[in-house]
Amino acid sequence: MITPENIAKAVQILKQGGLVAFPTETVYGLGADATNPSAIAKVFSAKGRPAHHPLIVHIAEVSQLNDWAVDISADALKLAKAFWPGPLTLVLKKQNQVLNSVTGEQDTIGLRIPNHPIAQALLEAFAGGLAAPSANRFTHISPTTAEAVQEELSTKVDMILDGGQCAVGLESTILDMSGAKAKILRPGMISAEALARVLGYDVSFADAQETTRAPGMHRLHYAPKTSTQVCSLEQIKSEIQTMNNAEFPIVCVLHSETHLPHHDGVHYIKMQRQPELYAHDLYRTLRLLDQQGFQHILIESVPEEKEWDAIRDRLSKASQSRPQVHLTSKL
Ligand code: TXA
Ligand code: MG
Repeated sequence: MITPENIAKAVQILKQGGLVAFPTETVYGLGADATNPSAIAKVFSAKGRPAHHPLIVHIAEVSQLNDWAVDISADALKLAKAFWPGPLTLVLKKQNQVLNSVTGEQDTIGLRIPNHPIAQALLEAFAGGLAAPSANRFTHISPTTAEAVQEELSTKVDMILDGGQCAVGLESTILDMSGAKAKILRPGMISAEALARVLGYDVSFADAQETTRAPGMHRLHYAPKTSTQVCSLEQIKSEIQTMNNAEFPIVCVLHSETHLPHHDGVHYIKMQRQPELYAHDLYRTLRLLDQQGFQHILIESVPEEKEWDAIRDRLSKASQSRPQVHLTSKL
């Protein structure tokens, strides 16, 4: 239970330059006073995050936008009105006084009003901007429960506000509104279509060069420690048949209605078929599987439809650069 006393204590810690992890509707954030350079330095060191990766600043009200951003277009305000509080981060031209350590030395800033009663109570009581990256160590899976924050950061965080499991389960959609046209820097559960409906024009994804501005976009991220691979159902079936004993036990994360042949070394997890429900469960499931000593996690690839974009993006990040399953390995 979060009480007004908990919130008051959290605010006190933040005002003194400490770190408070708090729930949002997407994932848990590691909050720090966005105007306090030493608090921001602590965020980078707690996460083990490279210094040039910009942080999202969380605010309570649209009226606070002007404290952080300049040249805010009518389109940006339309989006804020349509989707805030909610899982959308707007990248805007920054105010002069915003700390360089918050923006990764860029001339833009990411801003968001989260939709969670605890986050809102905290932001209102704090009455300022909270820089809050996801409350995980760099490259790890974002936490969607307070227990996961504890696992990730333990003593590195001064207080964790427990708001139960996050409703959305994947990080916010990041939309660059600092140029003439909106560009998606990171897909999230607010889709390109939903954004286009409000803006009245098709919204494209930023190309690889542009996404260097959102570093989480283009390197290993959101990754279990266990070797993880995304494959079609057919590949999973043939994998199981060709794998040698040393490669078991494995776990297959499926979402389609199917029956795979029984095999002692193969465990199955059935995910929900609707993207919102799948997203809600994904990180929690991966985190649990990561603790169970599997040799490999094989994830059934998800549909090509747009509403799966954010999930497909995170699965592809989760399965990069770690040791891969040898598709035709023999001893
Ligand atoms: O849902 C979320 O967005 C969560 C919750 C806690 O709000 N936060 C989150 O923060 O995912 P983080 O730091 O883990 O990921 C933020 C991403 C990073 O990839 C960062 O590079 C990008 O946002 N970003 C932040 N400010 C930016 C800017 N000014 N321009 C481009 N990308 C930016
Ligand atoms: Mg993150």
